[in-house]
Amino acid sequence: MNRSLSSQDFMQSFSTKLENALQNLSLAQYPPDARRQMRLFSSTEVASLLDVSEAYIRQIVQKENSPTPEILGNGRRMYSLEQILEFRMMLAANGRKKWINPRRTEGEACQILAITNFKGGSSKTSTTIHLGHYLALKGYRVLAVDLDPQASLTSLHGALADFDPRKDDTFYAAIRFDNPRPTAEIIHKTHIPGFDVICAGLELTEFETAVALEMRKNGTSFLLRISMALEQICEDYDIILMDSAPSLNFLTLASLTAATGVLIPVPAHMLDVDSTGKFLELAASYMQILNEIGASVSWDFARFLITKYEPNDHPQANMAALMRQVFGENLLLNMVTKSTAIADALTWKQSLYEVQRSRFSSPKTYDRAIESLNAANEEIEKLIWSAWRRE
Ligand SMILES: Nc1ncnc2c1ncn2[C@@H]1O[C@H](COP(=O)(O)OP(=O)(O)O)[C@@H](O)[C@H]1O
Ligand SMILES: [Mg+2]
Repeated sequence: MNRSLSSQDFMQSFSTKLENALQNLSLAQYPPDARRQMRLFSSTEVASLLDVSEAYIRQIVQKENSPTPEILGNGRRMYSLEQILEFRMMLAANGRKKWINPRRTEGEACQILAITNFKGGSSKTSTTIHLGHYLALKGYRVLAVDLDPQASLTSLHGALADFDPRKDDTFYAAIRFDNPRPTAEIIHKTHIPGFDVICAGLELTEFETAVALEMRKNGTSFLLRISMALEQICEDYDIILMDSAPSLNFLTLASLTAATGVLIPVPAHMLDVDSTGKFLELAASYMQILNEIGASVSWDFARFLITKYEPNDHPQANMAALMRQVFGENLLLNMVTKSTAIADALTWKQSLYEVQRSRFSSPKTYDRAIESLNAANEEIEKLIWSAWRRE
């Protein structure tokens, strides 16, 4: 039979066209000469981030050598995240608030969290970016590692000035078997102080074939590739977050081996929960193999997190109840609600923490969404503290 549509032409042509169109869109949003900047924060937000009163902030601002706010036309004082960090360190120096500088201390190991599930669309990337930005706002040093060749987390950072996925600059460069690059070389600073990224790109898929070849020579040593790459730089971070691809492949197995904790985001939908069951079954069978060859993996914690939750939807409420029954305390108490504010922010390539409340036509929608994110993130922060054995 003579078919006229060349598969290669089809794929190639639309890959190029789509890439160009998206690049133009991104250039229109973030012109290359306009450096992306983190927004400013109101004194109410600063007080809440530092857990002190606004009056107290005013009091320190009057002191010498204290950061001076930018004063807007309406008289409102606005602070940068760098200034908030300065306040934090000033408060830490006067020693009245324990853990106001939350960075880890001697004996507290860098927390490496894998955010993982089988299914695309279960909010892995959204969970990673919102948790990462929350922690950076709270004063932790965070590194986010994009492990998904589809590179959603990477593209949420817009055009990083010095990043080119075609030039050996993704995480693959640090984990390949042949002449790996030092991990420090592929870390990119973002516009958010305290939040760095390692980017992904299609070349990450090469890990799968490389492992298949490597295994013949060196067995399961591939499992340690991610741990080895992260070990080089974990000194500089308190928390490393790994955003996984929607698959359970060698790369995911290596990330589960490197992890000290695991988060499994699951929407409370039949198909998502069903798929999560299959993910767990497959993961269990791999873990059994690892146990049998003496390469067993243990974590400080693993938790399920209900994402995109719509409380008024009965089937979801029922599914959430079932999940609570099955997962017990391994399901986080707080659920991240489905919100147009979160979806909008993500289409602007931002987390909700990056967007000014006033940008939303319905501030109430923003408030509900940020409250839900904060509650879930705070619960995860507590788990990290438990792993560090903090009070
Ligand atoms: N809480 C939320 N409310 C509304 N939309 C969400 C929420 N979390 C994620 N989304 C949307 O769901 C889609 C999939 O989310 P994403 O984080 O990319 O999932 P994954 O990384 O698991 O594939 C995205 O379009 C995202 O904008
Ligand atoms: Mg994703």
